[in-house]
Amino acid sequence: MAEVNASPLKHFVTAKKKINGIFEQLAAYIKESSTFLEETYKNEELDPVTTEEQVVEVRGYLSKVAGIGEVLARRHMKVAFFGRTSNGKSSVINAMLWDKVLPSGIGHTTNCFLRVEGTDGNDAFLLTEGSEERKSVKTVNQLAHALHQDEHLDAGSLVCVMWPKAKCALLRDDLVLVDSPGIDVTTELDSWIDKFCLDADVFVLVANSESTLMQTEKSFFHKVNERLSSPNIFILNNRWDASASEPEYMEEVRRQHMDRCTSFLVDELGVVDRAQASDRIFFVSAKEVLQARVHRAQGMPEAGGALAEGFQARMFEFQNFERRFEECISQSAVKTKFEQHTVRAKQISEALRLIMDSVHIAAQEQRIHCLDAREERQDRLEFIEKQLDLLTIDCKSKIKRITEEVEKQVSNAMAEEIRRLYVLVDEFHLDFHPSQVVLKVYKNVRAPSLLCSDLCCFGRVLAESATISASVLICMVSCEGLKPLLPVSIREQVDKLVPRKCFTLSYDLNCDKLCSDFQEDVSFHFSLGWTMLVNRFLGPKNTRRALMGYNDQVPRPLAVTPVSTSMPPCPQGSMTQEELMVSMVTGLASLTSRTSMGIIVVGGVIWKAVGWRLIALSVGLYGLLYVYERLTWTTKAKERAFKRQFVDYAGEKLQLIVSYTGSNCSHQVQQELAGTFAQLCQQVDVTRQNLEDEIKDLNKKIELLDGVQSKAKLLRNKAGWLDSELNMFTQQYLQQGR
Ligand code: GTP
Ligand code: MG
Repeated sequence: MAEVNASPLKHFVTAKKKINGIFEQLAAYIKESSTFLEETYKNEELDPVTTEEQVVEVRGYLSKVAGIGEVLARRHMKVAFFGRTSNGKSSVINAMLWDKVLPSGIGHTTNCFLRVEGTDGNDAFLLTEGSEERKSVKTVNQLAHALHQDEHLDAGSLVCVMWPKAKCALLRDDLVLVDSPGIDVTTELDSWIDKFCLDADVFVLVANSESTLMQTEKSFFHKVNERLSSPNIFILNNRWDASASEPEYMEEVRRQHMDRCTSFLVDELGVVDRAQASDRIFFVSAKEVLQARVHRAQGMPEAGGALAEGFQARMFEFQNFERRFEECISQSAVKTKFEQHTVRAKQISEALRLIMDSVHIAAQEQRIHCLDAREERQDRLEFIEKQLDLLTIDCKSKIKRITEEVEKQVSNAMAEEIRRLYVLVDEFHLDFHPSQVVLKVYKNVRAPSLLCSDLCCFGRVLAESATISASVLICMVSCEGLKPLLPVSIREQVDKLVPRKCFTLSYDLNCDKLCSDFQEDVSFHFSLGWTMLVNRFLGPKNTRRALMGYNDQVPRPLAVTPVSTSMPPCPQGSMTQEELMVSMVTGLASLTSRTSMGIIVVGGVIWKAVGWRLIALSVGLYGLLYVYERLTWTTKAKERAFKRQFVDYAGEKLQLIVSYTGSNCSHQVQQELAGTFAQLCQQVDVTRQNLEDEIKDLNKKIELLDGVQSKAKLLRNKAGWLDSELNMFTQQYLQQGR
């Protein structure tokens, strides 16, 4: 058995196993690739990295490789035996199978093609062409009987003899042996060749060494040689045991056969070199070998029975034939059965490698593009965040500055208007009469309208300055700072936003109510009168307190303006020195007014000191001045006094609301600017959010592409690995002996 195990047929068996394994891997690989490509092609989140043609191409390979795999799994080595009737073809096969498998005997025994094949079961059976029916056979006689019984069998039909592999080592190694009817008993050689010879790896011509190569045998192999390129042909000169009976001619006959056979193979067919011809021509006795092997199988001595002289040599030669035949058939079969498919597999793996490479490159390019886009978005986001921080600080300070400026401008404008009020009032002409009715009209209608016209002008100045400041800031903020941070579509929205922001300041000075509690005093006051003198020294307010003799601690209500609720309180308690003086004069006045006697005493003292003339002159002058003043106290003078009082009063009132109006306006500007800035910031936030979303999407895409890329790379490498496997296979099995 060790002899069989070391059989060169194993070469084919391992090669078949190997190539089947490679094709299985190739099929699995193509399946994986096809699924991957289809999934990638259908993935809508990705731009195309593969084409429909590629998907279809790979899908096509799947069925192709599966088909090849099936063919490969069924592949076996095939040897066909030809020769004239009774040359011993069936005997040679039996000898090789170590058992009487096929019927043999004198006369025309084999009447159709018999294909001996291994089966895994323990029972032998027959399969005839065009029928699934298994005819069980236990012995070779049964087989012969069955074959002869079947009337449908003609020389060109085929019967498969399924022989248990367990009984025969040769059949375990994927060898199929084809026995044929004698080529001299048929005229259908051409159809035989078409039917049985085209896939045969080795042809064995079983010749009869008792005669010589016949023309029928030669012409058959000529035909085979025409149909197949360089067929592997062995010539067995069978029945060589016959030479033992004529040992004196043996060498000569052997040489003669050898020469003729060599000439046939080398010169006529040209299938082998002359040097190698000796490895293709053998002198054997199938009958002896079969007999010896059957004996051995039965546990009897090999050389037992009536064996002719030189048996061992012939036995050795038969074994030598078997060896050469096995080497030849396994080499040849590996090449003819696997080479073509190996090349095809290489082409497929190369095509797949290229597809995966292109997918890998496309995914890589797309990934790089996405990475660039992500980086650009991240840069923009970072820039926006930084710029927004800077702008926020900048704008805050600018808003503060502009707010202060507006406040200052408003204050200045108001101060200017108060100054203008004097001129305006002065220039104002209307019939004046000190009667209560006229004064009332003057106070409640004319004066407020005058104030209003004046303040309208003031408001315009104010609004202009504030509006300009505000729109300058907005433009500055939106155009220079924030606008570049926004995408084009949003920039247009901002442009629409900016002009709306040229707002006008709202302020209400309430001209009607401003002078509502104004109290004129158009009664005559002598300039050297007691009241006027005190007034000149102490001011109008303290005079009143001094003359009335009470301390007016309760402040008068302020003018009604829109801001009265939050108006700053009037400064108080900062006049302690004045109050002291007032209380002193108050004391003095009350003293003098209480006692007229005091005056007479003082008059008496002065009388004594300066003399009566001077006193009379002084009194005269005083009286004259009084008369003059009394006479010049006309309506005109009253109007002047009225106007001066009004301007003083209005000025005082306006002064009070200057700071408030200023801060109110600046507050409005601040609100407006802060609001606009906040709106712009909101737009920037939207942009920022959009950028963040885009980055998120890009991250997802990059992750997907990473997956596609690494998978494509893996599959590309796998194709490379399969290619190297196929190369190794080629090197190990197909290039041997070249
Ligand atoms: P067909 O099937 O009729 O074409 O003949 P075949 O070529 O198959 O020959 P087969 O094996 O049936 O053998 C024919 C006869 O020759 C048998 O009786 C064998 O015993 C005998 N025979 C075969 N080989 C040898 C051999 O080497 N020496 C001797 N002496 N007889 C042999
Ligand atoms: Mg036969």
